[in-house]
Amino acid sequence: MILIFVGAAPGALAIPAVVRELAEAGQQVEIILGPRASLFVGPAAFGDAALVDEPSETPEVTLYAPATSETVARLARGLDRGAGALGVIAPDLDAGTAEHPAVRENLDLLRADGYRIVEGSGAGMADPGSIVAGLLGGLDGPMQGMRLLVTAGGTREPIDSVRFVGNRSSGKMGLAVAREAVRRGADVTVVSANVEMVEPGTETRAVESAGELRDAVVELAARADALVMAAAVSDFTPASPVREKIRRGSETMSLELVPTDDILASVSGRYPGLFVVGFAATHGDALEDARDKLGRKGADLVVGNDISGEGVGFGADENEVYVVGREEEHFVPRASKSVVAGIILDTMMNEMERQR
Ligand code: CTP
Repeated sequence: MILIFVGAAPGALAIPAVVRELAEAGQQVEIILGPRASLFVGPAAFGDAALVDEPSETPEVTLYAPATSETVARLARGLDRGAGALGVIAPDLDAGTAEHPAVRENLDLLRADGYRIVEGSGAGMADPGSIVAGLLGGLDGPMQGMRLLVTAGGTREPIDSVRFVGNRSSGKMGLAVAREAVRRGADVTVVSANVEMVEPGTETRAVESAGELRDAVVELAARADALVMAAAVSDFTPASPVREKIRRGSETMSLELVPTDDILASVSGRYPGLFVVGFAATHGDALEDARDKLGRKGADLVVGNDISGEGVGFGADENEVYVVGREEEHFVPRASKSVVAGIILDTMMNEMERQR
């Protein structure tokens, strides 16, 4: 059972959505809505979810959301004893409060005490999806015990100290895979290339260039069961990046580019036991390209998408893909990236099961 302490802060309005997502994930939830919190969200917003004064049993996880700076302080300083085996805290703080040294110290104390802190990217509470992922990560799930490495975002190859060769990848697809995997109980590490968001419940390593991404993946893949290469890796990098800023001139300038290593191909060669999922962004026949890359790159699964369509692929919230494995092939018509991520992981698990 998951117990939610709803705090008296604006983020309380988002808690019914958290409860719905947890219920959809098959979790049993009990909610404690204090009188001050109910000034922000009324009991009716929770529908038929169980509002209680006291939990009916010791909860498996207790979620404090939204957590005010007072709740954070009380838990950190032992003035409130958290209930249950795992405590998850979603602070809802304005920017000034969030940066206050005493608040940072309290959050550090709580982390050291084993609490999981799910923070938003700016002021206010994290979004419901991130809270659910932070909460379900590490709990029982079909991917429990599995170590998944995911790359997300797009690499930047330096031309000089301020300019780079980059691409339009937002990192949303990679983070969606990471989030779904956390929800299913996997132990997830993200190598994140120029993505602002950090997916809660994951360990994240930030990199910038294709070379840094390669080094991180080669190192971290040694202790992973599967790798999902969702990052858009530059195929070329400037031959001789300049340390300073290149000055304006009136002459034509050309930039010499040299090919980067194919990370996916080299990792699948180096770690034969690693299950490798690649992506293939194609203008045109995405299914043919995915089938071709499955063989050519030594991947175990390739997710192909036609990026010429509008509203799908790079930067979008939706995608339309072919998931091509050695045994299974699925066409996923236009759907949210989290639905697509779920189908990729389902197919991956099926294929891994067959390989065992
Ligand atoms: N990839 C990689 N290393 C690179 C380039 C790409 O590991 N240097 C990975 C990507 O993360 C993706 C897959 O390879 O999972 C396919 O990337 P894509 O750019 O579609 O294919 P390429 O191999 O670059 O082939 P082409 O440009 O011919 O389509």
